[in-house]
Amino acid sequence: MECVTKINENLYYVGGSERKIHLFENMFPVPNGVSYNSYLLVDEKTVLFDTVDWSIGDLFLENIEFVLNGRPLDYLIVNHMELDHSKMVKVILEKYPTTKVVLNQKALAMLNAFVHSDYTSRAIIVNEFDTLKVGEHEFTFVFAPMVHWPEVMMTYDKKDKILFSADAFGSFGSLDGNIFSSDIDIDSEYYSEMRRYYANIVGKFGQAVTNVLNKAKDLEIKMICPLHGAIWNDKIDIILRKYKTWSSYLPEDNTVSIYYASMYGNTENACYALANALAKRNIKNIKMFDVSKTDISYLISDVFRTKTIVIASPTYNGGLYPKMENFLTDLNALNVQNKHVAIIENGTWAITASKLIKKHLEPLKNITLINKELRISSNLCNNQKLIIDEMADEIGKSLEA
Ligand code: FEO
Repeated sequence: MECVTKINENLYYVGGSERKIHLFENMFPVPNGVSYNSYLLVDEKTVLFDTVDWSIGDLFLENIEFVLNGRPLDYLIVNHMELDHSKMVKVILEKYPTTKVVLNQKALAMLNAFVHSDYTSRAIIVNEFDTLKVGEHEFTFVFAPMVHWPEVMMTYDKKDKILFSADAFGSFGSLDGNIFSSDIDIDSEYYSEMRRYYANIVGKFGQAVTNVLNKAKDLEIKMICPLHGAIWNDKIDIILRKYKTWSSYLPEDNTVSIYYASMYGNTENACYALANALAKRNIKNIKMFDVSKTDISYLISDVFRTKTIVIASPTYNGGLYPKMENFLTDLNALNVQNKHVAIIENGTWAITASKLIKKHLEPLKNITLINKELRISSNLCNNQKLIIDEMADEIGKSLEA
């Protein structure tokens, strides 16, 4: 049976959610599943905005049939060609043989390559700021290259002031009946999953996000329809501000997070001692993460959140503890910037961790090292309390900077 939600007089939600999936992109845990959003407009012409993953393909086709109610599908607008949104493009174009696919040149090349067919004769190629009138509604195409693929574009509906935003403003998590931000408790947990999605999927491309935010700043936006997560029918100024912060790599919270690797608990104990000293200095909302136990996507999301970070690791086989190395490599891959960083290293012989941590930090922009390091030789000693206190003082100053 269909499962459609009416968004307004002419626009319908025809996507869906799934919870069977464990790992989005076979990499990121999605304990609350994920939604694949698609939208169908019924005007003088009928217009479908993007498709969905195969996993909900049957429901998607049923939804479209229900809304079309016997009418042909005139246009399929493809804003993004990543496969979680484009797997059903070929199915749609085969099922509806008169449908024109509206996309840019890069997206057409991807489509033809992905499906090993040539859909050029079915395509309407659009350039940036081209318009398409489908009755009362007229669309403008705003290109958003590298948010987070090169072909990405957004479609703006001038009549209803709706921005179909591709992956931008999306989130992990299924939509459980309520699909509008106004009907969901968009609490810290939702924003936290939204940040985890942003940081890991789009985080590398902050400049591209800034560019498209600048392009969109003159548009009056009453609603944002992303390809994942809730439809934003309120709080638009809040999420635009969040995107501005994240894309500028600025912290959301003026606090400290400690990311540690610990083989036998001794590095962990040193981190607790530091966290305790920070708390005594009235620093709130300190977080500690064991890099061996926490999926890296949560670590990265928290790094985007926090102003000052502490990296603590033992030396391992003369190098860095592998889980820590993986985390630091991802900081580079995702272009993390603007952090104050404190370092704790541990080792019994040939300690190299601090040197190697700094090597990983070198390429990152605007990293300020805390001018006090802790080196422990297996166990934190009582006489190192002074160093912990000095580190905590310096970290406290970093939050005032
Ligand atoms: Fe949701 Fe970039 O795909």
